[in-house]
Amino acid sequence: MSDVLPLSPDELLTTTRSVRKRLDLTREVPLDVVRDALEVALQAPSGSNRQGWHWLVVTDAEKRKVIGEYYRESYTAYRNSAGYPGAGAEEGSTQARVADSATYLAEKMGEVPVLVIGALEASAELPAANQAGLWGSLLPAAWSLQLALRARGLGSAWTTLHLKYEKEIAQLLGVPEHVRQGVLLPVAYYTGDTFKPAPRAPLDTVLHVDGW
Ligand SMILES: Cc1cc2nc3c(=O)[nH]c(=O)nc-3n(C[C@H](O)[C@H](O)[C@H](O)COP(=O)(O)O)c2cc1C
Repeated sequence: MSDVLPLSPDELLTTTRSVRKRLDLTREVPLDVVRDALEVALQAPSGSNRQGWHWLVVTDAEKRKVIGEYYRESYTAYRNSAGYPGAGAEEGSTQARVADSATYLAEKMGEVPVLVIGALEASAELPAANQAGLWGSLLPAAWSLQLALRARGLGSAWTTLHLKYEKEIAQLLGVPEHVRQGVLLPVAYYTGDTFKPAPRAPLDTVLHVDGW
């Protein structure tokens, strides 16, 4: 079993950040540590307890490089698009920092020692209705994985921009057509340990008791 940091539940939940610049690209990640974190993740709920999730753990340097190139291509298109939230962000603002950090990750994705793709048994064509019911059977486990990794000294970041090239990546990894990808987590040991709760919009702006 891998070593686990003595974090309280609330500490773990409030300090598991998207780690990008602090991913240690030079330190090897033992597969057993990722396996231990995945064992924790498998305790997450899934619809009717179907457990239709699959975890593609990519360590092969050549495959990571190809996935990294797809990711960078998609990120560059996103960055140049009208909806990009980082455009015109005030210098030093949270949005500008996120954009800077996301750009760094887009450059380095293929060099991150482990890439984990969370995928789900679904269908080649995704159903039009009840997307929440579908993805709700994967996403809690993927977040549990991030928490379990953080507790073991490993950082990760939720990313989805690779999905523009989902088919190409599926082909690269031999993923069957009915298995659909939901998230790509770059995983590495983090440098330093000064993660803090992040500023968020106040609860009262989003809380609705007994109605909207
Ligand atoms: C559905 C979803 C998609 C995301 N996609 C990306 C992505 O493609 N690339 C990236 O760098 N971060 C991505 N993020 C991470 C967010 O930018 C990040 O969670 C947010 O800025 C808050 O920062 P924190 O996780 O450190 O609290 C994504 C997060 C979510 C929940």
